[in-house]
Formats: sequence, structure tokens, C-alpha cells
Amino acid sequence: MADFGGVDGARVLADLNALRKIGAYRSGVHKPTFSEPHMRSLWWLVEQLQSAGLTAEIDGIGNVLGVTAKSGPKLLAGSHLESQNFAGWLDGPLGVVYALEAARIINSDPTTHAAVEVAAWCDEEGHFGHFLGSRSYIGAVSEADIDAARDRNSNRSMREAIESAGLAGRPRRHAERGRHIGYLEAHIEQGATLEGGDLKIGVVTSIVGIWQYRIAFTGEQNHAGTTNMAIRRDAGLALARFCVAIDDSFPGLCGPRTVWTTGSITLDPGAPSIIPGRAEMLFQIRDDDPAVILRLEERLRNIAAEVTAQGRVEVAVERIRTGMPAMMDVKFQEAIEAAGKALAGGRSLRMPSGAGHDAQILAAIMPAGMMFVPSIGGISHHWSENSADEDIVLGARVFVEACRRLLASI
Ligand code: GLV
Ligand code: MN
Ligand code: MN
Repeated sequence: MADFGGVDGARVLADLNALRKIGAYRSGVHKPTFSEPHMRSLWWLVEQLQSAGLTAEIDGIGNVLGVTAKSGPKLLAGSHLESQNFAGWLDGPLGVVYALEAARIINSDPTTHAAVEVAAWCDEEGHFGHFLGSRSYIGAVSEADIDAARDRNSNRSMREAIESAGLAGRPRRHAERGRHIGYLEAHIEQGATLEGGDLKIGVVTSIVGIWQYRIAFTGEQNHAGTTNMAIRRDAGLALARFCVAIDDSFPGLCGPRTVWTTGSITLDPGAPSIIPGRAEMLFQIRDDDPAVILRLEERLRNIAAEVTAQGRVEVAVERIRTGMPAMMDVKFQEAIEAAGKALAGGRSLRMPSGAGHDAQILAAIMPAGMMFVPSIGGISHHWSENSADEDIVLGARVFVEACRRLLASI
């Protein structure tokens, strides 16, 4: 049943639960990019968009785009449908379902020519790269980039994955300059700020830049029983000490919201009776000021040079991702805040996003905005991720109202 502004809260929850059933894992989902459940979710969306009167298709990189023939101003809205491995049900689908609901309501409203167009961007979660779907849409991904991309878990090539998903030969769709007044994305907060302040809506001001490094340690592989401690060149031990050195020195150099993470460690050959001759870690720094990240990167390189100079283990630091931060458009922030004032009693907060989102890619070519709803306990990128049903429904109302305000402001 439709409630305020036409939003049907039960329909929004039913849509999200339908997506949760596809690739269900415990209370979350497992939908790596181009997996069978991911593709089934994309086809589910195509069907819903068609029922809502949009022309919808999956393009050659796995983006779903739903477009309208309406003649008035158009707002682009969406998020993503793949998940991290064995992760949560709302990270991505929430923004897609809100966009779908907004399109259903606004596009069928006989009092306006304005419309919402819907996107589900492929691979936001970075199984094959970084924001490949939205970057393809803005024209920042070449065919050679696709040739080079490989699944971070299985090492399967992206070409092969696209082919087995049945998408080979399909054209990739690109943004039509001037078609949209901007891009709006909703997402769960994935942190505990809103919940902690008893707030309902996050108005995103900026999205962090994410820089990533491969740090390789080369020592000497040898016998764990016969090589005495004094002469070892243990790459694994050097890696562990490197992590401690980072944690000792970064706090004196970082900004108030900088975060850094060693998300993956590999020891080679990785056996109990062998001193590792090689070790590798994937390391990430996030901040909304690239100057801060550069300062930390310099420290990283200095620590590596100091360890190498000691002569036992050689350390090489390679930057493999340079994701720039993005500011969210002020008019979009105002529209979300005004919608929150009208429908959520003003319980909103302007806040930066520490997570990356496709909105930061779209912001390069059009005004972009983002809205958050509270996450229970701030948990995300884990299957237990959740939000209260009433917060999800309230968020949908605020989102649709923000869409209306933005479209009416043109
Ligand atoms: C996106 O999911 C991120 O890791 O920030
Ligand atoms: Mn997400
Ligand atoms: Mn995510």
C-alpha cells in the first residue's frame, strides 16, 4: 500500500528481500561479480524496471541501465547489486531498490514530465578492479583495461567472466552529456555515527579517496630447524615488523579521519617448517585529502628504505590504486537535508563517507549526491550487516522526496 508521497514501504522491503534470497548466505548474501546469483539479480532488476515502464538492459560490462522516454528533466539514481564475498544484503541493493521505487512513483506521475533513470553499476565491490562499471559509463575504462582485469580470488579473466555471463558482444553504454541533472545514490551508512546520535539520515558531504599498495618483502627461503636465528632472512617477520612500524608512525602524520588497513598477507611458500623467502601485503589508506595520503605514502617508502638498508630483507612498495576523493554537490546536500526535515523530523547529519561509492565516479561528469540510512551496530562487509525495517522505509520516503525536490528545482 502506498503511503506518503506514493512510497510503498512494504514493496521496498519485499524487493530487498527478493534480492536477499538470490545468493543467500546466512542472513546476508554471497554474490561475487558475474556469479550466477549476481547475474540473476541483474535480470531481476531488468524485469522490475520494465514493469515500471522503463526500457532496461544489461550492457557489455554488466551495468543495468533503465531509461525513460519522458521528455522532462532526468535524474540518474542507483548503486550496485554484487556483494563482497559472504557479506551483507543491503550494501548496494538498498540504493538500487530506492532508485527503482523513485522511478515507479515519479515516472508515472501525470503532473510532471520529470523522471528518474536507474542504474546498477557493475563491480563496485572491486572483484575485478575499481568501480569498473561506473568508470566504464563515464568513459574511463578501455578495452585493454577489460583485457587486463582478473578476478582477485579466482584469477579468472574478466573477458571470460563476461562471456560466461552471456554479455560478450554487447555494447557498453556511456553517459550522454547533459541528459541528467545529476546522480543520487542511497546507501547504508556502514558505520555507527547515525545510530549513535539517534539520527535517521546521513547527508554525505564528501567521499574518501582510496589508495592501495602492494608491498613485497624478499628474504631467503630456508629450513626452519637448521637455520639459526642470527642468520635468518625471514620475509614474514619483516612484514610483521613493517605493520608495527606503520602503526607507530602514522598517527603522528595522519589527518583526523585517516584510516589504514592491511587487508591481505601472503607468506611464500607458507609452510610451518620453512622460513618464508617472500611475503606480500595489500595495504590501503583512505582520506578525503590526497595531500595527507601522499604524506603517509612517503613515510611508507621511507620505512621500506630503512628495512632494505639493514641488508636482510628487501622491501618494494608499489602503488596499485589511486582513487581520488569527491565532493558531493551542495544543491544535492540541501535537497536531501530538506527532505529529511520534512519527513524525518530533521534527524539528519552532514557527514563524510569513509566508504567508496560509485557516486564519486559519477561526480566527475555531473553533480552527485549521497544519502545514508543507519546501520545496526555499524557492521558492514559482513553477512550480519542489517538496518531496521522502519529506517529502511523512512529512508525510501526521504530519498523519493529528495528526487522530487531536485527535479523540481530545474
Ligand atoms: C566499498 O565497498 C568500500 O570498500 O569502500
Ligand atoms: Mn556499496
Ligand atoms: Mn561495499
